[in-house]
Amino acid sequence: MRHAHRYPGAAHEAEGPLALALWDAGARAVAEDGADLVGYFDDRVPLPGGGAWEDVDERDYVAEYFAGLEAVEVGPLVVAPTHRPVTLQPGQRVLWLDPGMAFGTGHHETTRLVLEALGALDLVGARVLDVGAGSGVLAIAADLFGAAEAVGVDIDPDTLSVARANARLNRSRARFSCEDFGVAALGEPYDVVVANLIAELHVDLMDAYAGVLRPGGTLVLSGIVDERAEMVVEAVKPPFVLVDRHRAGSWWAMRLAREPVAG
Ligand SMILES: C[S@@+](CC[C@H](N)C(=O)[O-])C[C@H]1O[C@@H](n2cnc3c(N)ncnc32)[C@H](O)[C@@H]1O
Repeated sequence: MRHAHRYPGAAHEAEGPLALALWDAGARAVAEDGADLVGYFDDRVPLPGGGAWEDVDERDYVAEYFAGLEAVEVGPLVVAPTHRPVTLQPGQRVLWLDPGMAFGTGHHETTRLVLEALGALDLVGARVLDVGAGSGVLAIAADLFGAAEAVGVDIDPDTLSVARANARLNRSRARFSCEDFGVAALGEPYDVVVANLIAELHVDLMDAYAGVLRPGGTLVLSGIVDERAEMVVEAVKPPFVLVDRHRAGSWWAMRLAREPVAG
């Protein structure tokens, strides 16, 4: 670990679009440092403006970042890293999650909103597809909630080993593969599709979502920042209808239904 990119005064962005952009650009860790937001990288890569590169010593920033992670409660789930014990209240279930080099600890609003949406659905016996699975947190949650099948796909091959390791930690049957959703052939339609991506991708992928969701099925879209919410709402077209939307911080998740076949 030799390169850090520091954004002065941007600590408030730790859960916002800037942090997400750093993760997307391949950050090993993203952390607040006083008032600043800092992304730690193996190599100097193109990044959003407003920050500057600096060399950092060989401290293990990744290990320090993981060590600082706390368990997070989302509905009946406690999403917890494995390095410390967890006390469960009656009715709670643990989802063990070590993010490795993949996005998805359960802390980010975009992930939490989908976990809440999954918890509100009846998934028993359902086939669930997680588009952009990252750490595997959403597919594993779907499996814990009773899905008959939970499948995660991600375009980034580095996420695969992380998601599979997390599935093993939870004795989950969730399966993961490296696919570019939108060009991949994913077989039989799913009952529920969740996708925590970005607004622009949702707009581009609307037809692809329709292609993998059965009539009457549910689509949950997350990763939609405030300024882009209307863009996604306007892209909703038949066979989809917008059912509801929920906000956390500056992020939205939207629940869409694929209209059942008439007659
Ligand atoms: C914000 S992370 C979401 C991780 C996890 N599902 C969560 O909710 O915390 C988005 C993930 O989508 C993946 N991704 C982006 N475009 C994709 C595509 N076209 N097909 C499959 N995965 C994609 C990225 O590699 C990244 O791991």
